Amino acid sequence: MIVEDNVLRSDWIVAGKIEDIKEAPKQVVLMSERIVLFRNEEGIHAFKDLCIHRGASLSLGCVKDGNLVCNYHGWEYNSEGTCVKIPQLPEGRPIPLKAKAMNYLCKEAYGFVWINLNNNNPDFFSYPPYMDENYRNVLWGPQEVNANPPRIVENFLDVGHLAFIHEGFLGVQEHAVINDYDVHTTEDKIYCDEIAIFQPDPDGSGQSKDVFYTYEILRPLTVLFTKRDPDTENKMTILLTIMPVEDRKSIAFGVMSFNYDTGTTDQEIIEFQDMIFAQDKPIVENQKPEELPLDLQIELSLKSDRMSIAYRQYLKRLGVTLGTD
Ligand code: FES
Ligand code: CO
Repeated sequence: MIVEDNVLRSDWIVAGKIEDIKEAPKQVVLMSERIVLFRNEEGIHAFKDLCIHRGASLSLGCVKDGNLVCNYHGWEYNSEGTCVKIPQLPEGRPIPLKAKAMNYLCKEAYGFVWINLNNNNPDFFSYPPYMDENYRNVLWGPQEVNANPPRIVENFLDVGHLAFIHEGFLGVQEHAVINDYDVHTTEDKIYCDEIAIFQPDPDGSGQSKDVFYTYEILRPLTVLFTKRDPDTENKMTILLTIMPVEDRKSIAFGVMSFNYDTGTTDQEIIEFQDMIFAQDKPIVENQKPEELPLDLQIELSLKSDRMSIAYRQYLKRLGVTLGTD
């Protein structure tokens, strides 16, 4: 199952928005594992949501003086997960060395919390628009989807559906043709040439025209696309990253970045993206098989599916396990 996949466990996986993690401990389920996130003066921490004493959920507890306190018997864990107080111990009795919470590497970046379940500290991808002062960044999500992450990611990389699923917004059926484009691989990403997409009203002026889309694959569950208007050099980039929760249950998050004034509020931008995503959702929740086929003989691809093919080949090369067993 993808939620047990070791390649993903060895990567940084999104676990929520930084702004949603307050001091009070919060449970998240990531790759079928219950994790508790909490904040103290040092930042956000991630532990397995399990007290070693009697298996209580640490997320039911609280944070006191920077320590995570289990509410069942009051054991206190510091930022490293080491138990520093056991109220039941008679004075002078040492805290057992085994009294620890399982601590996961945790990172705050691009407005999100990321967890590395295997604690192997892999390289983190770079997302330049977030650091660029010419860009406005708007966070998007959480959006729950009853599908495995790769189906959601591939849908995002799929250029052919824009004229159908998003007709009137991101394309029109009379302009469904996708001209050939190439896909390139570098050390840190897979990306495609710009693809011309006819849009009924790309900038809100009521004027239909071709804009250019490029897609990039950064990590198995983190991809982006950039839309460029050739007349104005206005660019919008959307970074999509998926949190695998359980088998066939995912949460999508994103960053939407603009180098121009959209004339809309953050809320309006989020609502538009929610509406577009709601059009995709029934598709990815009902695709069969639920596991993205990595064997290219299964399903029938066109040349215009090159980016999807590159994604499938990438997952296969990395050895991501998608199967049901
Ligand atoms: Fe956590 Fe006892 S179960 S302190
Ligand atoms: Co779509």
